[in-house]
Amino acid sequence: MEFLQTDSLPDLLNLQSLIAANLPCPEIFMLHDDMYFQETLRLNRSIIGVTTGEELIAYSIIRIPGLADDNLGKDLSLPEGELMKVAHLQAAAVHPAYRGNGLQRKLTSAHLRVIEEMGYEHVCCTVSPKNPVSLANILSCGLVIEGLCPKQQGWWRYIMHKNILRPNLIEMEGRNVCRNEIIIPISDIEGQLDLLKKGFKGVKMAYTHEGAEVIYAKC
Ligand SMILES: CC(C)(COP(=O)(O)OP(=O)(O)OC[C@H]1O[C@@H](n2cnc3c(N)ncnc32)[C@H](O)[C@@H]1OP(=O)(O)O)[C@@H](O)C(=O)NCCC(=O)NCCS
Repeated sequence: MEFLQTDSLPDLLNLQSLIAANLPCPEIFMLHDDMYFQETLRLNRSIIGVTTGEELIAYSIIRIPGLADDNLGKDLSLPEGELMKVAHLQAAAVHPAYRGNGLQRKLTSAHLRVIEEMGYEHVCCTVSPKNPVSLANILSCGLVIEGLCPKQQGWWRYIMHKNILRPNLIEMEGRNVCRNEIIIPISDIEGQLDLLKKGFKGVKMAYTHEGAEVIYAKC
C-alpha cells in the first residue's frame, strides 16, 4: 500500500475501466475523468493504491471540498464555520479478482489516519443503497448514515459522517446506549427517510432472510 504519484495515472484509469466494466449496475460507482485523477494526484497523500507485483489492484481517493457546492457538510446542515473542516472519502475500488480481502476497509482506515493528521474534523462520504458491501465497510470504519438524498444523475446516496475529534456515543459505548433500534430493508428508501427525519442514524448492517438490512439507532 502506498501513496500514488502522477506517474500512476495510466494504471488508475485502467483499473477504473476494468471496475466500470464489471459493475452490476452503473449507478453504484461514480466514474472520474482523466483531469480529475491528474489534479487529485498532485495533492499530497490524496490517493492510496495497493499493488501486487507491477499491477495496481485497489485505490482510495480523498478530497478536501473547501466551500464548494458539493461539500457534504451542507447536506448535513453543518454550521458554516465547520465546512472548512470537512474531508471527503471520495472513492474506493478493488480489482474484481482481489475482492474479499478487506482492502476497502484497510484503505479507508489508512486514509482516515491521513485526514486526522491533516487536522480535519469531519469525514463525509456518499454510498449507494444498492452497494451493501461498501456500506458495511464504511460503517465498520465508524461513519454513520446521517442523510439520504438523490445526488448526481438523481441516484440515491446515503450521506455518511464521522466526527474524528468527537466519536459518537455509539462508537464510544456500543449500541446498548441507544434507546431505540429499528431494522429496515436497505431497499426501503421511504422508510429510511422517515427514520432519519425522526433523528435516527444508520449504524450497522445485517443480513436476514429479508436480505440486506440496515440497523438505525437513536441514542
Ligand atoms: C466495494 C468494494 C471496494 C469492496 O471490495 P473489498 O474491500 O474487496 O470487499 P470486502 O473485502 O469487504 O468483501 C466482503 C465480502 O463481499 C464480497 N464482495 C466484495 N465486493 C463485492 C461485489 N462488488 N459484489 C459482490 N460481492 C462482493 C467479497 O467477496 C467478500 O465476501 P466473503 O466475505 O464471502 O469473502 C468492491 O466491491 C468494488 O470495488 N466495487 C466497485 C466499486 C465500488 O462500489 N466502490 C465503492 C463506492 S465508492
